Formats: sequence, structure tokens, C-alpha cells
Amino acid sequence: MKSGTKQFAYEQVYQRIKEAILTGTLSSGDRIPSSRALAVDMGVSRGTVEEGYSRLKSEGYIESNGKSGTKISANLHTIDVEVHQYSPLQSLSQSKFDCEIPFKLGIPAMDCFPRKVWSKTIAKCARETKVIDLYQKNPQGILDLRIAIARYLQMSKGIQCKPHQIFITTGYINSINWIVQALLRNNSKVVIEDPGYPLTRKLLRSNGLVPEPTELDMEGLIIPPDGSFSAVIVTPAHQSPTCIALSLRRRKDLLKWATRNEAWIIEDDYDGDFCNGQHNNPALKSLDVNNRVIYMGTFSKVLCPSLRLAYFVVPEYKVETFLNIADLHSNNVSEFTQRAVTLFMIEGHFYRHIQRMKEVYRVRRMFTLKVLKSILNEVSVIHPDGGMNITLLLSLNKCTDVELSKYLLKKGLHVEPLSSWSTSEKKQGIIISYANIENEDECNKLVVKIKDVLQAL
Ligand SMILES: Cc1ncc(COP(=O)(O)O)c(C=O)c1O
Repeated sequence: MKSGTKQFAYEQVYQRIKEAILTGTLSSGDRIPSSRALAVDMGVSRGTVEEGYSRLKSEGYIESNGKSGTKISANLHTIDVEVHQYSPLQSLSQSKFDCEIPFKLGIPAMDCFPRKVWSKTIAKCARETKVIDLYQKNPQGILDLRIAIARYLQMSKGIQCKPHQIFITTGYINSINWIVQALLRNNSKVVIEDPGYPLTRKLLRSNGLVPEPTELDMEGLIIPPDGSFSAVIVTPAHQSPTCIALSLRRRKDLLKWATRNEAWIIEDDYDGDFCNGQHNNPALKSLDVNNRVIYMGTFSKVLCPSLRLAYFVVPEYKVETFLNIADLHSNNVSEFTQRAVTLFMIEGHFYRHIQRMKEVYRVRRMFTLKVLKSILNEVSVIHPDGGMNITLLLSLNKCTDVELSKYLLKKGLHVEPLSSWSTSEKKQGIIISYANIENEDECNKLVVKIKDVLQAL
């Protein structure tokens, strides 16, 4: 604080804390800094801070509890002021961020997160931290994690790659931005799936690219005509949101198309581990003899989204190009998180977790389909073999699917309107995820709610 009168400095201490209380940033029981610490922080004398604290105390805002320090008063409500609840999301739609709402897409089964083994892994990782681990080292991500991912890709997806072809990122946005900036020119046309992940369109436009939505059928993306396309972004394992798998025939045709058009295929394998058959489909990348595929993976579905850990794999001859712009994109992912996930993988927990989750999802999917069939028997349902989503196609005449989703949200159900994932509003329906529905009873109650809302239209 700039030098001023003593009165001014003590007033500032008083006002700062009082304001924090009135706006709800500090509430009953919260600890405030000691007068010594705050004095150093504000560049004032300790006596000045003590004077401010003494006024706050006399007005009942704070109280001192001996050794446990100074805290916001437990009886704030006795002061004649209106204390606001602190809500950083006040200006945003709260429901959009409320992850606990049933049917919400994109969230793995949170009740099955392997808490115990994860806690042990984190503790071990912390214990084994070396001095050299205390600073961020490699712009591509730590080598041990890339080695573990390369092994997993080879064994689970049939992808042959070396650790130096792998780049660790914080997720889809980070990966796409890096790939686009390394490989694509401004105003390039990029084929995307329609319906498809809405974020993709937004991201491409924000990078100065032109998304070209292309329709699907039951074999997945329909191969676009030859033309001046620079890339295609596909979700071949389970198309997002329909979960249709790209057929082997289409995979081969898409690879030929990319070679003919000198276009890149960006393979977004966001949840490729969870199919309901016995085996994963081989990744598109595993068939890529002409090196046209950039493969993207994420830990968001196999572990949890809040890890913010993902990666992509580039052809060997493009590694240098990606490294050249690494300084724009790297250093985002905590190395501690990377080391913890590496340990989790090399100790075998990762594979065990995936196997366990395959069974959980198989069961949840089975009872969800059964319940949908029995309660909403007139609704047609798209439910291909894998993935975590089910699409209900609806012929609505009293409202749009966007309006229907809002009605359902009021009943506590977070479904996605199909039209918001499509360029054409003709496609009406709702998309649900069954990942967080723990049992058939719960499922019954939720689907009855959908039925009630549909009947009340
Ligand atoms: C189609 C699609 N791609 C990628 C992702 C993964 O994103 P992230 O790795 O940023 O969590 C998601 C997550 O829901 C998704 O739906």
C-alpha cells in the first residue's frame, strides 16, 4: 500500500475484510491472516492492522480464538447487515455445470472411480517425488507416461507408435488447437460429423477454419466427395453422440479418401475402451499405412474428466513440426498428475479398472435399454453396440427438442437435444448417457419422469 495517513491504512484493512464478508467471499468460521502476516502483505505496520481488526471485532465481524487465530464471527447473522452468498457462477447457467444430474453426457460412472487405489497411488507418488520432479521438464509430457501410453496403445488398440510421437495435453481443446495450428492453414475446410460434438464446430471457427458438416448413416460418417478438404475429425469407435461405430469398410474408404485428398484424419477416440462386445475395434490409426491419421486419446472417460489429461499421436515425420510450437501449448499439464497416472498404469491398476468398467457399463446399458423399451415403448431408440449414450428419436409437434430438454431439466434430468448437435433442426430427439445410473430401480424412476413430461406436452 502506498504511504498515506494512518487513518487511511487502517480503514483499508477494515474495509477489505468487511467487504469480503458482505459479498460472501468470507463466511463464518473462515480464518483470516494474522495481523503480522497481513501487515507484511499490505506493507503497513502491525499496529495499523491490529487497529483495523479491533474495529471489526467491536462490530462483531471477527473474533479471536487464542491459538486457533482470528476467524470470521460465528454469529454473523446477529449483525444487522445482509450477507450475500458467494456464487462465482452467478452469471452463468448453474445447471450447465451441475455434473450430478442424471443422464448427463460425457461423465464416466463416478461411483466407480477407484478411490482407494488412486489415493494410494497419489500418496506413493508424493513420497517418491525427487528434487528433479519439482520443476516442469518436458514440453511433450513426461517420458515415462508416454512410454506407458505407447504400450497401452499397442496392446489395446493395435497402434504402433514410439513415445516421442506422443504429446500430452490437458484435453480436447488443447489437443485440437495444437494439431490445427501445426497442420492446417487458415480458411481450410474441415469435414466434421453431423450430428457431432458441438465444441468441434466452435473450436474450428475460433481457429479460422471452415467446418463442413457431413451426414452419417448406420455405418458412421458418409465419405465426403473428393475436394479441397484439409482434414476430417471423426469419432470412429463410438460416434459422438450416436455411438455408431465406423464400419471397417468405411474406415478403409476414409483412409483412401484422406490419401487421395492429402487430408488429415483426426481420430478422436474419446471413449473407445468401452464397447459391449468382447473386443475393442482396432483404431483407425492402426490401419493407417500412409500416415494420414493423428490419433487423440483422453483419460477423461477411463478415469475422470477432472484429471485434465489427454494425448495425441503424430506420424514420426511430423514430430518436429509439433515440437516447434510446443511452447504455445505445453506446460499446461501438471507433471505430478502425469507421474501419478504413470504409476497407476505401470502398476496394472489402469487395465484392471478398464476391465471392471466394461462390465459395469454392460450391465447399466442393458437395464437402461430394457427400462426404456418397457416405459417408452413407442419411442425409437438408437443404441449401437458400444459407447455410453442412447439417442431417443422423437416426433415432437407440441415443442422442439430444445424446449423438451429444458422441461426435463426442471425435473432434474440433464439430456441433450439432438438438434443442438446437428446442423439440421429436422433431427429431433434427446440424447442420454446411462453411465451414472446405478441400478434398475433408479433407472425406472428417471424414465418415468421422461414419460410424464412427454405426456404432459
Ligand atoms: C466427442 C468428444 N471428444 C472428446 C472428449 C474429451 O474431452 P476431454 O479430453 O477434454 O475431457 C469428449 C468429452 O466428453 C467428447 O465428448
